[in-house]
Amino acid sequence: MIAERMIGKALGKGVFEISKEVKEAETEFGKDNVINSTIGTFYGEDENLSVLKTVEKYYKNLPAVEIFGYASGISGSNEYKEAVKENVLDIYKSSFDKSYIGVTATPGGTGAIHNTLKAYMDCGETVLLPEFMWEAYKSLAAANGLKYDTYTLFDGNAFNISSFSEKVLKMAKNQHKVLAVINDPCQNPTGYCLSFEEWKAVIEVLKEAAKYAKVILLNDIAYIDYDFRGAAKSREYMTLFNGLPEEILVIMAFSMSKSFTSYGLRVGAQVAVSSSKKIIDEFDTASTFLCRTSWSNTTRGGMKLLSDIYSDEKLLKEVEDEREEKIVLLEKRAEIFVKEAEKSGLITCPFRSGFFVTIPLKENAKEIIADLKSQKVFVLPVIGGIRIALCSVPCRKIEKLPEIIAQSIKKFNR
Ligand SMILES: Cc1ncc(COP(=O)(O)O)c(C=O)c1O
Repeated sequence: MIAERMIGKALGKGVFEISKEVKEAETEFGKDNVINSTIGTFYGEDENLSVLKTVEKYYKNLPAVEIFGYASGISGSNEYKEAVKENVLDIYKSSFDKSYIGVTATPGGTGAIHNTLKAYMDCGETVLLPEFMWEAYKSLAAANGLKYDTYTLFDGNAFNISSFSEKVLKMAKNQHKVLAVINDPCQNPTGYCLSFEEWKAVIEVLKEAAKYAKVILLNDIAYIDYDFRGAAKSREYMTLFNGLPEEILVIMAFSMSKSFTSYGLRVGAQVAVSSSKKIIDEFDTASTFLCRTSWSNTTRGGMKLLSDIYSDEKLLKEVEDEREEKIVLLEKRAEIFVKEAEKSGLITCPFRSGFFVTIPLKENAKEIIADLKSQKVFVLPVIGGIRIALCSVPCRKIEKLPEIIAQSIKKFNR
């Protein structure tokens, strides 16, 4: 019955199955005796979803028409687009003097990624993904009839610029089109953040590739507001996007999910930066068409929420102050994890900031995950390792986690 292009396309049962097992273990042994490190949303020390109170209150008080009415504009309201620009680019606004900017509202960062793949790649082409990655990228590529290749993410404790360069240039010469995904800052699942110098090197590679191909950089910034370096430092690299050759288009995938604890509202955006007006006009036309033919428009209430937050300094400050409390807690959890991991000799991928840290595992991942389960510790398997969710495990449990994992790894990998 199914269309041919859908044959073999299915989501893994992974997270769904694990959460069922977690529930069963919690019922049998009590929540205090179970460590659930599989949840990718922010939970407080009480192990419940932790929402920004100001955001919750403001949204609940929006007039009915602002939630239930159709949103204006297929690609988002003008106020929303301005608010997105303010969040993403405002700190360095004067640095975009040679740029045209396009914004299209999408259902979350997922919608932004989907729209970008669909608009810029043809069926059968290959996109470039990081080796450790948010695994939905692969499904999003498959849904658009695309293949993928990966670049090695690390060289020791640094970004692996030679692997990135090799893969990008090969693709540029063979395919004459490059779409490379960089999930930065606060990469999922490793928590890596490229330094400004590393970003400079990335841009040089893209410029070289642009001699042979059209180049699209898809920069997924879903976790940017949890960068421990703060808002200004986390966005400094974006100044490098100004005045690039016309052959390079940068699209940032913005998401309200984490930054505004609005996971279920499904609001995000594509933010396109180019030195060519024609390219941005083309972006606007194509992305609007794709919105209309995929989901029509993004939720009005979610867009109104962001627009109002950015049009009221006091409200914005309240939201940022509340988020800061979560960042401080996240930093504390990260500090505990890193310290305990060092004590236990547990090796992690280079970590800088954000929701997650990854333990690289070359072999026996299945056995180690099963062994951890038998100790009532649930972790998320990712390609090349296991992911620890600093965002959802309380400090008292984080403290125990590295030693348990280290012991389990020792049992299988000597
Ligand atoms: C790396 C990364 N990018 C994008 C997203 C998209 O999130 P959303 O569609 O909820 O905005 C996620 C969500 O978990 C993510 O981890």
